Amino acid sequence: MTKLIYLVAGARPNFIKLAPLVWILHSRRSVPFQIVHTGQHYDHAMSETFFKVLNIPEPDINLEVGSGTQSFQTARILERFDELLQEKPPSAVVVFGDVNSTLACSLAAAKRQIPVVHVEAGLRSFDRSMPEEINRLVTDALSDLLLVSEASGMLHLQQEGIPEEKVHLVGNIMIDSLVRMLPKALQRQTASRLGVEPGQYALLTLHRPSNVDDPETLSRLLALFADLSQKIPLIFPVHPRTKKQIELLGYTPPSDFRMVEPVDYLDSLCLQKQAKLVLTDSGGIQEETSCLGIPCLTLRKNTERPVTVELGTSTIVGNDENLIWNVFEQVLAGQYKHGQPIPLWDGHTAGRVADNLQDLLKGI
Ligand code: UD1
Repeated sequence: MTKLIYLVAGARPNFIKLAPLVWILHSRRSVPFQIVHTGQHYDHAMSETFFKVLNIPEPDINLEVGSGTQSFQTARILERFDELLQEKPPSAVVVFGDVNSTLACSLAAAKRQIPVVHVEAGLRSFDRSMPEEINRLVTDALSDLLLVSEASGMLHLQQEGIPEEKVHLVGNIMIDSLVRMLPKALQRQTASRLGVEPGQYALLTLHRPSNVDDPETLSRLLALFADLSQKIPLIFPVHPRTKKQIELLGYTPPSDFRMVEPVDYLDSLCLQKQAKLVLTDSGGIQEETSCLGIPCLTLRKNTERPVTVELGTSTIVGNDENLIWNVFEQVLAGQYKHGQPIPLWDGHTAGRVADNLQDLLKGI
């Protein structure tokens, strides 16, 4: 068997985690690999654009699974990825993050006794109402090599009885993309292009089922955001899932609450870096804002990334209106915390991931 490995990505945040590993494996030429795209995200703005701006080659294989319920989507990926594993078995499968593609592909590989490497292992929100938490738990239980982004993950895996020789703290691979792409991103001047002044707007992203799927919760949040936009203009790139729900409500925002199409990676970084503050329910944006030193109001009840609160710039505000207003006012008054550097979020994580992969392959 050749030592080919599959790098699997399916949804928007996966592409940003995949890119640094692709760059380094290309330059080292030590491990032959192919990129497998499950097709979980398929819109141009959610997928293709990311490959382009991150300068990664088109996927070698696209399973084109598309959307559906959690189980439908997972089952479809499982079936199609299993066929691929049967036709052309790799030496190992690398999965990233916590999306349905991560779970399905690790399950298919584990059933065929193909080693699974999980990049971003060990994160836990302890909230099983989130599909991502189930994906994290199952993927980690099935993985042969667990590469962890922050110290909390090491503790969780130890508590779950994962043998310590399988686990390595490597840092946050998403930050490698940020470090490399930020200078280019800042040339975009995205804020000005969208008609707001750098430093004088807030950025909002929202796509978690817990915030957008229930019409009552979503309406309440939209009314709150409309109020906040009276104090500072709000830029809101709308995720397709959220867009559908907003259309169902028939909601029209006031003029300073600006809903725009999803933005690509460079515009997203530029908008975060130049924002006065960010409101989000995204895991990745909690991490990016911490690294960029931008205040982040995390619109969730919990986080699987506690270091972004402990050392970074994030505060958990849930969807509690009073709390959101309090923290929002603190930021506008210049009284918000500044955050500190996070260990191993240094732009060199992909090198540590590649070292671990090479060691794994030597043993196969
Ligand atoms: C997925 C991940 C989530 C991640 C997010 C980033 C899971 C369980 N969730 O959530 O962890 O933070 O990606 O975006 O894997 N849709 C489109 N076009 C697309 C993709 C999706 O229109 O290219 C619509 C479809 O109607 C789909 C819905 O968005 O039903 C949700 O997409 P899905 O992939 O199920 O989950 P996300 O909400 O994007």
